[in-house]
Amino acid sequence: MKILVIGNGGREHAIVWRLAQDAARHTLFCAPGNAGTAALATNVPIGAEDLPALVAWAKENRPDLVVVGPEAPLCAGLTDALEAEGLKVFGPCKAAARLEGSKAFSKEIMEAAGVPTARAKVYTNSAAAIEGLKDFSLPVVIKADGLAAGKGVVIAQTRDEAEATVRDMLDGGRFGAAGAEVLIEEFLEGEEASVFALCDGEHVALLPAAQDHKRVNDNDEGPNTGGMGAYTPAPIATPDVMAQVRDRVVLPTLAELRKRGIVYKGVLFCGLMIGPKGVNVLEFNCRFGDPETEVVLPSLLGDFAAILLACAEGRLDPAAVQIRSGATVTVVMAAPGYPASYPKGLPITGIAEAEATGCTVFHAGTARKDGQTVTSGGRVLTVTAHGDDLRAAVDAAYAGVAKIHFDGAHFRRDIAAKAFKHLH
Ligand code: AMP
Ligand code: GLY
Repeated sequence: MKILVIGNGGREHAIVWRLAQDAARHTLFCAPGNAGTAALATNVPIGAEDLPALVAWAKENRPDLVVVGPEAPLCAGLTDALEAEGLKVFGPCKAAARLEGSKAFSKEIMEAAGVPTARAKVYTNSAAAIEGLKDFSLPVVIKADGLAAGKGVVIAQTRDEAEATVRDMLDGGRFGAAGAEVLIEEFLEGEEASVFALCDGEHVALLPAAQDHKRVNDNDEGPNTGGMGAYTPAPIATPDVMAQVRDRVVLPTLAELRKRGIVYKGVLFCGLMIGPKGVNVLEFNCRFGDPETEVVLPSLLGDFAAILLACAEGRLDPAAVQIRSGATVTVVMAAPGYPASYPKGLPITGIAEAEATGCTVFHAGTARKDGQTVTSGGRVLTVTAHGDDLRAAVDAAYAGVAKIHFDGAHFRRDIAAKAFKHLH
């Protein structure tokens, strides 16, 4: 198949890499891609948010399938524009992508479909929202409605902080249009997990649960990041939890959308909180997660392109989705200073040596400069390893990390550590 993958992160490198593992040979393109995708695909120099140029390229080159990585082009209607040209797309249409693009819409669908989720109320007016805060105990969660690059959620510990956050979002324009509506939401305790559901509008195949590590430092300390590492399977997501996700979360959500004339094709990313109140959905995303994709896709057996195309064509056979035994771990190597400001252009050595140990090194923020691979982002590489069990996978991933060098590289040393408490 001729396939265009859209995006330029570790997630997209993992998607391209997994397509390249298929028994069937594909011709792969990645727009805009990175130094990692360049080794497996032809990079097309068009940004992931340049919809007119992407559509023009696809019209001219007629790929058999387009796979959209990030949320912004999905929420902007890239799938709709490509389908209007008769192209096949893995990734939801604009109306379905609102599950990520609007937290108020997402909550409305969950409530209508009976999906377990935190109690929440939506406000557009700060005086009403501050009044509404009285119905919630502390800590309380305040969310900007729209896309805010993962920064639109505040967990307020005090009433003053909650009121200031509400004013900042609704009156201060802190997130622009994305914060013109806010949700006030009950705080849930527990452990988070990410489950990706492959969907064709009606049928569903769940991929094994993964856990991200959002804080920059060991023991979940320090500021939030885009994710410092992940592992799968997550033992907290027991078979019973996974059955609940399919039967009480994903299938009712797809059915509720169909009632409204919306067909959800692509991956539905369920961000879960598993704790004393059972399994609750914290958020839906309309795309694969990063860095979870870098562990989940290496676990998937079979012909990935055929599965994605079946989703796009509304004929997914969940039995075709088979998972490898064992465990997979990825450790993110970040630039000095990340998640605050960081330099770019630092030369990277040791990637081939890490791969020689059996790791797969996905590029998240790299570029080629004068024949050398250099850093070009905050999250630079995700070093991934598979093992017969989690311990073996952790050890193998860190053996790969030890081979790689760039000035000031930092990474967490406790990826997957929290899984072991469920395993003993
Ligand atoms: P979201 O973008 O909605 O997933 O929120 C980002 C992060 O905020 C989540 O990954 C959680 O760590 C935290 N969070 C969001 N909603 C809640 C909630 N209701 N209770 C506790 N933590 C939450
Ligand atoms: N790893 C979380 C996300 O991709 O949103």
